Formats: sequence, structure tokens, C-alpha cells
Amino acid sequence: MITEERITAYINSLDKELPPELYDLEKEAKENNVPIIKRETQGVIRFLLLLLKPKTILEVGTAIGFSALFMSEHSPKDSKITTIEKVPMRLVEARKNLADEKFPHKDKITLVEGDALKVLKELVSKKLSYDFVFLDAAKAQYMHFLPEIMNLLEEGGVLITDNVLQDGTVINSRYSITRRDRTIHTRMREYLYTITHMEELETIILPVGDGIALSYLKS
Ligand SMILES: C[S@@+](CC[C@H](N)C(=O)[O-])C[C@H]1O[C@@H](n2cnc3c(N)ncnc32)[C@H](O)[C@@H]1O
Repeated sequence: MITEERITAYINSLDKELPPELYDLEKEAKENNVPIIKRETQGVIRFLLLLLKPKTILEVGTAIGFSALFMSEHSPKDSKITTIEKVPMRLVEARKNLADEKFPHKDKITLVEGDALKVLKELVSKKLSYDFVFLDAAKAQYMHFLPEIMNLLEEGGVLITDNVLQDGTVINSRYSITRRDRTIHTRMREYLYTITHMEELETIILPVGDGIALSYLKS
């Protein structure tokens, strides 16, 4: 938790309720320790979807399909969501949830199974493009995904990157980070430095949830 817990709890208490089917899926994810977008991150994503009305949405990191289904609730009727996942155990649940009739907008969503880097390269080679990209996968790989995402992001499009502050530890000195987490710490700092210094992007980092970076590809 990177903001004071009571403040987050208060802000979340003002937020809209999830539809019951998404509420149940969120509960299931929490009970099974599946990391899904936090309530406060949901608020930012919902706001941006309603504001920007993107038609082509790409998500990297489906897990069990919660955020894809959440985005399907708030994106325009004629929008399409492509979501990528590679872990078999997650895919079993994602396939089941994304086919479940109780989610009214599930038909907007296409699940692409495989390693994100490989899938992103394939999407680039097919000359596909997206106006809203949600990056929520293995943090240490964000730097590798970035060139492909830049090829896929339309001018005027938005890239949202989740978990960028890593529970606040990203601000700590490299030497205070356990050896096990050093690579991820270094890579996340490199990613944040890159997206905040790229000429073509306008990026802000918000201390929301586990930290969220919003990048706009200037036209
Ligand atoms: C934080 S979870 C995604 C949560 C989901 N976006 C949500 O909020 O409901 C990250 C997911 O990314 C997947 N992942 C990590 N690295 C990946 C890769 N290289 N290719 C595809 N999926 C990957 C993990 O298996 C995990 O399910």
C-alpha cells in the first residue's frame, strides 16, 4: 500500500459498486491470491475508458479475465479487446470466465494465448494497432514489451502501465533491495525513466493502487 490505507479505504467507499458478476469474480480472485487490478486502479481505468472511448484495446496480462471483463463493461459498444496470457493455470480460468454468459459484454474480448513478447511481435507483423493499451504482466519484462507496444500504439493513444511503484519499493536504493528483487527493481526504474523521457510520450505516474503510469502518444 503506497498511500495511507485509511485514505484509500475512504476513497474506495465512495466508488461505484461493481456489477454482481464482476464482484463475485473479484472475490474469487482475492480468495485464490490471483493478483488483479485494485479498486482504485479500476476507477482510473473506468474513467479513462469513458473519457477516451477507445475502439481497439490491448491488454497484456489477462490472469483470469477480471480486468478484460471490467473493461468490456465500460468501453464503447463497438470496441474490441484483445488480451494476452501465457500461464496454463490462468488460461484455464480465463477461458471459462470469458465464455461465461453472465458477462454481458464478453463477446468484445479475444483471448490470445502465448508469451506476450511473441504475441506482440505477431500483432506488429499483422500491422494491427490499438488506441488503448493496458500493460499488466511480468514487470521485469516491461522494457522488452515497450518497443513492440510503441509499434502498436496509435498516435493519440494511451498506454496504462500497472504496478510501477512496486509497493513503494521502487524509490529505495538498489542496495536496500534484496538480491532476489534487484533485477526487477532496476528494470522498473529503467522502464519508468524511459517512458517519462521519451519525446513521443507524455507520461504521468500516479500513486494509485500499486502505482500506475499513464502515457499518451503525442500526434
Ligand atoms: C497481475 S496479473 C494480470 C491481472 C489482470 N490484468 C487483472 O487485473 O485481472 C499478470 C498476468 O500476466 C501474466 N503474464 C506475465 N508475463 C507474461 C508474458 N510474458 N506473457 C503473457 N502473460 C504473462 C501472468 O501469468 C499473470 O496472469
